[in-house]
Amino acid sequence: MSMIRNSPKLDSYWMPFTANRQFKKAPRLLASASGMYYKSDDGRDILDGTAGLWCVNAGHGRREIADAVSEQLRTLDYASSFQMGHEHAFRFAERLAAIAPRGLDRIFFTNSGSESADTALKIAIAYQRAIGQGTRTRFIGRERGYHGVGFGGISVGGIVSNRRVFPLLNGADHLRHTHDLAKNGFSPGLPEHGAELADDLERLVQLHGAETIAAVIVEPVAGSTGVLLPPKGYLERLRDIATRHGILLIFDEVITGFGRLGAPFAADYFGVVPDIMTTAKGLTNGAIPMGAVFVKREVHDALMTGPETGIELFHGYTYSGHPAACAAGQATLDIYEREGLLTRGATLADRWRDAVNQLRAAPHVIDIRTIGLVAGIELESRAGAIGARAHEAFADCYEQGLLIRVTGDIIALSPPLIVEEGQIDQMVSTLGKALAGVK
Ligand SMILES: Cc1ncc(COP(=O)(O)O)c(C=O)c1O
Repeated sequence: MSMIRNSPKLDSYWMPFTANRQFKKAPRLLASASGMYYKSDDGRDILDGTAGLWCVNAGHGRREIADAVSEQLRTLDYASSFQMGHEHAFRFAERLAAIAPRGLDRIFFTNSGSESADTALKIAIAYQRAIGQGTRTRFIGRERGYHGVGFGGISVGGIVSNRRVFPLLNGADHLRHTHDLAKNGFSPGLPEHGAELADDLERLVQLHGAETIAAVIVEPVAGSTGVLLPPKGYLERLRDIATRHGILLIFDEVITGFGRLGAPFAADYFGVVPDIMTTAKGLTNGAIPMGAVFVKREVHDALMTGPETGIELFHGYTYSGHPAACAAGQATLDIYEREGLLTRGATLADRWRDAVNQLRAAPHVIDIRTIGLVAGIELESRAGAIGARAHEAFADCYEQGLLIRVTGDIIALSPPLIVEEGQIDQMVSTLGKALAGVK
């Protein structure tokens, strides 16, 4: 229970993706953050096992980012990017292009992962039309995919609660998800079984006709629905089928981008290059909202036609390329480069995997999956109460000073990439104690 003095009234703020009434009865309020730790409003240190929400990859309270934003706001607080510009957006885009997977060197700025997903889908449609493939208006997503909360994102997404209430884009269809505990439980690396599930794309081509499909979008590693790793060979096969049928491949790297897997992007980690890649979160270390869509040069160039006075893509946001966000992003890249954070996960991955696998013996654990500095720990659900066990573990960890993330009965860990070995052990032992107390 919060012991905050002068506590705010909680009624007015309608919280996102939150059980508002439950939360407001027993709020968990954070007051400050530094390095690997939050401080709660009652003064306790909380080890951040989730990098905020998969975004604070360089750790909290980075002074360089705060200083860059502050300086930027004093110099040029805002400038439109519609028929205007400022140097910071161009500089930041150039730096991103330099670290992008091969060929993805045209960058469109957004303000979030959801906007990045919808932007990528729109670019795909516009591209297909520009090359004379205007009948290609259909998208293929995947079950258990998460691509944010825009109408495009939920249409290609595969989380039923996010979809059932809302009208969806016409014609979106889905690949089956790749999660198969019976065949792949406790895989030490990527799952052995399931590459053939990529052939679902071939099946959907047979069903709908390739000439109706603009793009297929997947998370290389599904994050929000519980850290689902791609089976060996799956992404390669998807790439191959998409290419064969003129379908653009979009990787949603909102979670996997910026070092989470131990490589700059999942495309680098898996050696599979998409045509479009969405990012956000780690782009600015979570300090200022921003997203970036990385687009293959050929896709971009196909739209740079018609009279030079004409706008090539009728799309953009008031805050696309916001100067403060560009400043935060560049300061973030400086830190990533200086501290080697985009590849640090690779050096810690084995240590991380071995530590997290100590939880194998903990009660209720039915699978453990790790890659880079991510872990998914899946619990057997209590009969009639899906999610109850993980939620109890979450609440207990928070009381013991550890922030974890849960989806249903899957616990996800994704610490800032500055995590030290001792902190990894602290996470595992705190979570182990919490699980021991869960009925
Ligand atoms: C893969 C993926 N795409 C898109 C999003 C949406 O990002 P945002 O919440 O910034 O809109 C998320 C958020 O978790 C995500 O994990």
